[in-house]
Amino acid sequence: MIDFQDQGFISDPYPALKELRAAGRPVWHEDLGMFLASTHQDANAVLRNRSLGRIFKPKEPATEWDTFNWLHADSILDSEPPKHTRLRSLVMKAFNPKKIESMRPDVERITAQLLDSINPSGFDLIADFAEPLPVKIIASMLGFPDEDEHLLRPWSQAIVKMYEVDPSEQDKKQAQVASQEFADYVHKLMVARKQNPGPDLITDLALVEEDGERLNAHELIATCVLLLNAGHEASVNGFGNGFVAALEHEDQMTLLRERPTEIAATAIDEFLRFDAPLHLFERTATQDTEIGGVEIKVGQKISALLGSANRDESVFENSDQLDLTRDPNPHIGFGAGIHFCIGAPLARMEMTTSLPMLMEKFPNIELAKTPIRRPTFVLRGYEEILVRA
Ligand code: HEM
Repeated sequence: MIDFQDQGFISDPYPALKELRAAGRPVWHEDLGMFLASTHQDANAVLRNRSLGRIFKPKEPATEWDTFNWLHADSILDSEPPKHTRLRSLVMKAFNPKKIESMRPDVERITAQLLDSINPSGFDLIADFAEPLPVKIIASMLGFPDEDEHLLRPWSQAIVKMYEVDPSEQDKKQAQVASQEFADYVHKLMVARKQNPGPDLITDLALVEEDGERLNAHELIATCVLLLNAGHEASVNGFGNGFVAALEHEDQMTLLRERPTEIAATAIDEFLRFDAPLHLFERTATQDTEIGGVEIKVGQKISALLGSANRDESVFENSDQLDLTRDPNPHIGFGAGIHFCIGAPLARMEMTTSLPMLMEKFPNIELAKTPIRRPTFVLRGYEEILVRA
């Protein structure tokens, strides 16, 4: 049975995930108390099965977890139809492709500024590049004040620690405090924007109406917090994981150096496939159902292991090989079904814009030190990637 906290497993989970896939069907994990769907077919089926829902279980004691609980229960990600349908369509209106395309010049400008301020003799690819770009973009889309941007990453990091397998008492306390501070901050912002509308998503969300129905205050705050968190967390790690993988494969680095713009789109999808930034998404059966020949009874849990599915040898040729020109690449790193990532076009636009700019400015970029991994599995990423150019 996989120990998801074992640091050996976390440093390279792929051999153990391959063994899990060899079972060819979902396998019960006693410690987690859930089935694990590890093949592409099963993980995909879990995400699409309408008898399996994202059912948020409020944390207890409710008094301590109140804000954390409603930030989740009232968000798009942790709702199911009909509430999910209503919330998602409201957000999609404000988060449309035209709006995302209109952000491209901002992405180019911010990327250029970041690259100009980098010291080529040594920098941290996470702190100096991969992190500030998506944080600044999602903050500016929502209209989150520049001077307080530095608050976003610590709040988000504290909250997402609760998605790991066994958070510590200190992690729990920090998640509660971060939830309260984040919610209070967004609430104030929302009140201010209702009185004083601006050209931003928080204003749009506050004013949006569908069938005469507005988002209520908790739903609005929860949606903003989700967008601010989801809007950068996986992008930072997806870029970092993929770029380290490329740095460790000289032939792929040569490709990136020689044809950065041409291969940017396939390279980014391969980054997300090869070393997924998000590994495990849980569902609960709302009625008896079946996945991969295994019966999932009402109330039982099953998780889709995205990083494992993306290495499935029956779907991807040479699945353990990084191939930045891989096409087609049917990875499920952005999920599938009704919760499919709303931000996928934004994440793709950010990364396919910034990757070639990085390569053009610093074609000889290389690792200066062994990168440091975060000690977590569900959200997989690096703490620090020291490089020189
Ligand atoms: C590389 C970057 C990203 C990855 C790998 C990623 C991955 C995912 C995945 C796997 C899900 C589905 C979760 C599930 O089914 O339980 C999801 C949902 C979501 N993502 Fe992303 N995401 C990324 C970037 C973004 C960005 C930039 C945003 C910004 C708005 C965003 C917003 C959302 C939202 C709002 C949902 C919930 C959708 C729903 O429940 O209907 N994501 N994402």
